[in-house]
Amino acid sequence: MIFASAGSAVGLGNIWRFPYETGQHGGAAFILIYLICVLVLGMPIMISEFLIGRRSRANTAGAYKVLAPRSPWRWVGFMGVLAGFLILSYYSVVAGWTLEYILEAGVNGFAGKSAEDFKGAFIAFSQSPARPLVWLVAFLFMTHYVIVKGVKKGIERFSKVMMPMLFMLILVLVFCSLSLPNADKGLEFLLYPDFSKVNSDVFLGAMGQAFFSLSLGMGCLCTYASYFSKDTDLSKTAFSVGIIDTFVAILAGLIIFPAAFSVGISPDAGPSLIFITLPNVFQQAFSGASVLSYVFSLMFYVLLALAALTSTISMHEVVTAFIHEEFHVSRIAAARCVTGGCIVLGILCSLSLGVLQQAQLFHLTFFDFFDFVTAKIMLPLGGMFIALFTGWYLDRKLVKEEVSNGGTLKVLFFRLYIFILRYIAPVAIAVIFINELGLLG
Ligand code: PHE
Repeated sequence: MIFASAGSAVGLGNIWRFPYETGQHGGAAFILIYLICVLVLGMPIMISEFLIGRRSRANTAGAYKVLAPRSPWRWVGFMGVLAGFLILSYYSVVAGWTLEYILEAGVNGFAGKSAEDFKGAFIAFSQSPARPLVWLVAFLFMTHYVIVKGVKKGIERFSKVMMPMLFMLILVLVFCSLSLPNADKGLEFLLYPDFSKVNSDVFLGAMGQAFFSLSLGMGCLCTYASYFSKDTDLSKTAFSVGIIDTFVAILAGLIIFPAAFSVGISPDAGPSLIFITLPNVFQQAFSGASVLSYVFSLMFYVLLALAALTSTISMHEVVTAFIHEEFHVSRIAAARCVTGGCIVLGILCSLSLGVLQQAQLFHLTFFDFFDFVTAKIMLPLGGMFIALFTGWYLDRKLVKEEVSNGGTLKVLFFRLYIFILRYIAPVAIAVIFINELGLLG
């Protein structure tokens, strides 16, 4: 169970989104706020999602119908499903890019290139109208196949092997990256907080990243928990997932920033950051041993694509289970709707980085708009309602029973947990929202 949930949590959010958000928000101070968000908001809300899912044994919208019949709480579930659908659409675009990079690594296309070459190649690729679309569709088909064929179990078993491998490889890359010239500047960026750079955007960004990376606020872990056994220790599982997820993100930062500073790529390059810096790490760190550089880069992109796949599966599952159960259509038909819809939206997002760059919503490209609305608004809002639901609506005895597995587990911080859910989490999320809107001066 830990592996299935961790498979959902660990993905492009850690390796692609975390470094670029950190880079855009000034480095160490952002990371510090991020860690606080994970601990104070992420952990209690994750336990809550787990208990809602396991208690109700239903899809995310159905869960609220079971626990709070005929009440508006089910809208929290609906919003989660919509968020999952939107995230899947643009996430698959980036997941598709990893396939291009597998191919590139496979044909040894990185060999002998400079930082400028990588930058140019990425821009040309991501802005080209057709190529990224092919990969986007391919990635969604892969996800679709896993969902429809019911090979999810297989994938999860597979992820037990794959995740430790990814982890080891990341460790190797950390060492490589730290050995590059000028790596210490990147380390400094990552470790010495500069609080003068902290503003409301940094808080919103850190909170959004915490929800995104932990797969929280949209009922994803709730759906997974509906398959948990009676004896699963919910708080322990939540902490394990939180620790694994945070570790991978920090390590990704330790690879990307020393490398970025070393080759002179600005840390606020945005979504392209890892696609420009990483090939450099492979090139430069193993300059004397091109075989190593070939093997490691190929392995890395394969593992990254698989990590992304375990995340896209979890999002797809939320939406498919919802359509299947609520609209009484077959699972295959439900999955087809999801895949089809995501292809259409995904194409829009992908093209918005190139030919459709001018078609903007609220001054953002479709890609950025989808990312903003989901990660920075819908997920934290969902998290806030989940906290309120567990803290205020659910019977406290029921909550205690679930967290302690019917009294068999000792729960250390139960009062603190309830206090956070009732007051701290909702107020903190509300304040960050209001602050961002500029209403608090
Ligand atoms: N947590 C996943 C990642 O880090 C993304 C995700 C978000 C998955 C929301 C499911 C739900 O890549």
